[in-house]
Amino acid sequence: MDSMGDTCSVGNALLDADHEILLDLLRQLDDAVETGQTRDVVASVVNVLVEYAGYHFRREEAILAQSGFPDIEDHGRQHQALEKSLFSVKEQCLAGKWEALCDDARARLKNELTEHMLVTDKSYRPWVSKETGGQAAGAEVTGEGKGRPCPKGANCSQRNSSA
Ligand SMILES: [Fe+2]
Ligand SMILES: [Fe+2]
Repeated sequence: MDSMGDTCSVGNALLDADHEILLDLLRQLDDAVETGQTRDVVASVVNVLVEYAGYHFRREEAILAQSGFPDIEDHGRQHQALEKSLFSVKEQCLAGKWEALCDDARARLKNELTEHMLVTDKSYRPWVSKETGGQAAGAEVTGEGKGRPCPKGANCSQRNSSA
């Protein structure tokens, strides 16, 4: 996995690590489809992607809430829209509608998520970055965002280990 370069960093190590995991899961999804993996394998990658995205969004929102970032409501709405797209893909896969993962649809999903992480998320950098005096560099996740899902799958022994 490529490491998150400084130009891609949002200024917070926890959030950068989440973004790397999500970008890696998007690559894994492409690989699974393009190498003709079974539907169970593809579906499991989709599941982990959806679960981890939800976990990451709640963690990011908790950190932004502590940081005083002014556009938090709009940012939360963007997360909701992304989650809607992700859930839609997951539901379609569960219903056997695999066209939800055709090249175009997958590219669209990948673009939406990647653009959010690499462009939109950078807007909060001054608020969460230690170097610029951000207050929320290590905010604890509570409630829905707690209990980090393991990107390696439900049976991995690293599940819920701390970052
Ligand atoms: Fe993010
Ligand atoms: Fe975000």
